[in-house]
Amino acid sequence: MTITNDIKYVGVNDHKIDLFEGQFDVPLGMAYNSYVILDDKIAVLDSVDKNFKGEWLNNISAVLGKKQPDYLIVHHMEGDHSANISAFMEKYPKATVVGSSGAFNMMKNYFGTSYDDRRIVVKTGDVLHLGKHNLTFVSTPMVHWPEVIMSYDSTDKVLFSADAFGKFGANDTEDPEGWDCEARRYYFGIVGKYGVQVQKALNDLKPFDIKTICSLHGPVLTGDLSHYLEQYNTWSSYGVETEGVFIAYSSVYGHTKQAALFLEEELKKLGCPKVSIADLAREDMYECVEDAFRYGKLVIATTTYNGDIFPVAKHFVERLLARGYQKRNIGIIENGSWAPQVVNVIKKMFDNSKEINFYSTCVKIVGAMNQTNKDELNSLAKELIAK
Ligand code: FEO
Repeated sequence: MTITNDIKYVGVNDHKIDLFEGQFDVPLGMAYNSYVILDDKIAVLDSVDKNFKGEWLNNISAVLGKKQPDYLIVHHMEGDHSANISAFMEKYPKATVVGSSGAFNMMKNYFGTSYDDRRIVVKTGDVLHLGKHNLTFVSTPMVHWPEVIMSYDSTDKVLFSADAFGKFGANDTEDPEGWDCEARRYYFGIVGKYGVQVQKALNDLKPFDIKTICSLHGPVLTGDLSHYLEQYNTWSSYGVETEGVFIAYSSVYGHTKQAALFLEEELKKLGCPKVSIADLAREDMYECVEDAFRYGKLVIATTTYNGDIFPVAKHFVERLLARGYQKRNIGIIENGSWAPQVVNVIKKMFDNSKEINFYSTCVKIVGAMNQTNKDELNSLAKELIAK
């Protein structure tokens, strides 16, 4: 695949993977992107997952023909991109590896060498001259590991963005939902904790006139890039992407589910612009996490369990907390047959979170939903609509 006259795609698609990074379901597979810049000096940009060593090296050979690469540029050391660095360096003994100082420290740990005699260490502002193309480096720590660096080719106006702007899904499989859904699930699943660092990276990239974004995952982004940049700005500032309510529930015998569905109907009757609802035990957990960040208002409906809250609800809240969940209004529907604990537990879990407000109506079900609970749900729906 040709990105520009001089920039070629040499990445791979993974359809055998079951869980990306050992935890994310990827029904559309995964892409590990890698690129080659053909110029007076030839640069290969990043490696791919260990299972694709042969395919990747063949892709590079197919683009290079009899030419030899001068550089392997390492933007990120996570295994899905770095696994074949040593294989590349063995195959091309005259090549120099280019990366941040942090990347070389990691190489020593992964490969037993930091390529001291075959390396160029780069940091923000450094430029690698390839001929017609000049790559300017920008350190972007924690997007998504500390050693990450991006690079910008001022000739073709291409940003090589490491994990940023990536998405789940192989590149040879059409995503019926377009870029946003799996890019959002990827962002909040993997990078969500590092909003401050992503904001800094976006700011540091402002001087560049970017026409194309080449991420390490997902499609090459071209055309009007403002949508992707705006989404990243919203997500990393913990802003509200979509006005509406996300109801996340767990239910043992169906009573809590019934209350969640009742609230959904009340909200719709009151004209709520969007209501999303998910069973935490059955929906993909990271679909739930992304929806919690997507909407401005969250309702958690769950049961008391061993003096705590139901395990999947606990896991859900823990995942939000791990990603710095903030700037949101939360409603609670609690159920408990003899000693309801949900309100206490959830409020305590968010004790140290920033700008979390709880609605004053707490729906307290003791077993099955009754008329009082319906009235409470109606009040909660009105509060959710009001603010
Ligand atoms: Fe795609 Fe953070 O590795």
